[in-house]
Amino acid sequence: MNFDLDLDELVMTTALTDINDAKILIVDDNQANVALLEALLDEDDYPNIYSTTDPFQVMPMFNEQQFDLILLDIRMPGMSGIEILHDLRLVVGDDYLPVIVLTAQTDEATRRQALEAGAKDFITKPFSDWEVLLRVRNTLQTRLYYTRQILRADLLENEIRERTREIRENQFEIVQRLGVAGELRDNETGAHVKRMSHICGFLATKRNLGFDYSEHLLYASTMHDVGKIGIPDSILLKSGSLNEHEWQVMQQHPKIGAKIIGNHNSKLISLAREVALFHHEKWDGTGYPHGISGDSIPISAQIAAVSDVFDALTSERPYKSAWPVEKAAQEIENCAGTHFEPKTVKIFIENLAEIRKIKESYLDQNDYLMI
Ligand SMILES: [Fe+2]
Ligand SMILES: [Fe+2]
Repeated sequence: MNFDLDLDELVMTTALTDINDAKILIVDDNQANVALLEALLDEDDYPNIYSTTDPFQVMPMFNEQQFDLILLDIRMPGMSGIEILHDLRLVVGDDYLPVIVLTAQTDEATRRQALEAGAKDFITKPFSDWEVLLRVRNTLQTRLYYTRQILRADLLENEIRERTREIRENQFEIVQRLGVAGELRDNETGAHVKRMSHICGFLATKRNLGFDYSEHLLYASTMHDVGKIGIPDSILLKSGSLNEHEWQVMQQHPKIGAKIIGNHNSKLISLAREVALFHHEKWDGTGYPHGISGDSIPISAQIAAVSDVFDALTSERPYKSAWPVEKAAQEIENCAGTHFEPKTVKIFIENLAEIRKIKESYLDQNDYLMI
C-alpha cells in the first residue's frame, strides 16, 4: 500500500480543494458596499457568500461557519474591524486568519494596524473590480494550501500515533510471552507472572512513579525470571536442596536473563533488562548477582523484589504450602531495610487490601499461556 498516495487522496477529498467552494463573509456597515461585493463575487462564481452590516454578528457567524475568507470593513459604528480582528485572533490562535480589510486609500495608519492585527491583505475603497477579485483569489489560494497542510499534518499525526500504539502493544505482548517462557521452565505458573507483574505496576503507581513508568514496569517485570531458560533442568527442577555449585549456577539466572533481553534503547526492553538483572539484589547488599545495595539497586528491581517474594510466599508449590497473606506481609515487613527497600515495604503494607485483591484476581491455573 502506498501510504503517501492514500494520505494525499484523503486530503484532497476532505480539505477545501476548489477555491470557488470557499465560504466568504462580507462585513460592511454600508449595505451598498455589501451588495456591490456580493454581485462581484457572484459573477466570479463564488456561490457561498454570506454578509452582514452588523459588526457584532461577525463572531457568532464565524463560530458557526468557520469562513475561508472574511472581507472586513474597518470603520463601523459600535465596533471597529480592528477589534473584530483581535477577537478573531483569540478564536483561531496560531491558525491562518483569512481576512482582507476594506479601507480608504488615505488611511495608512489603519491599514498598518489591520495588517499588524493579522489581516492578510487590504482592498482600498473605492474598489476596482479586478483588484477585489485578484486579492480574493490570491488569499483563498493561500488559505487552500494552508488547510491542506494542516489536514495532512493531522492525518500524519494520527497515523503515527496509531502505529506507535501498535508497536507498543506488540512489544508488551512479546515481552509477556517471553516472561511466560521463563516461567514454563520452572515450577512457577503463568498466574505467578501475572500477579507479580500487576503488583509491580500497582506499587509503582503508589510510589508516584507515573502512569507511563508503572505500565512499563507491569509488562517489563513479567520477564524477571526469563534467565531460567538457561539453567539446566537437573538444577532448576531438582527436588532436594542445591549444593554449592548448583546454587552458583542458579544464581546466574539474572545475568542470563539480562543477556537474553539484551541492550536496547526501548524503554520497555531496558526496564525489563533492569528487573531481570537486579531482582535478587537485597537492600543490605547480601543479594546476587552483583551484591549491590541501597539506591544502587534500580527502583524497578526494588519493587519487583517485594512483589516477587510476596507472591512466591503466598503461592502453593510442590515443596511448600501457601502462606496466608498476613504471614507473608509480616515477613516482608520484617525484612524492610535488610532484604527490601523500606519505602516500598511501607507502601506495600499500607495497600495490602488492594494487593490481596490483585492476587485474588489471578488464581493459579494450569493454563500457562493465560496472560
Ligand atoms: Fe528470579
Ligand atoms: Fe518470580
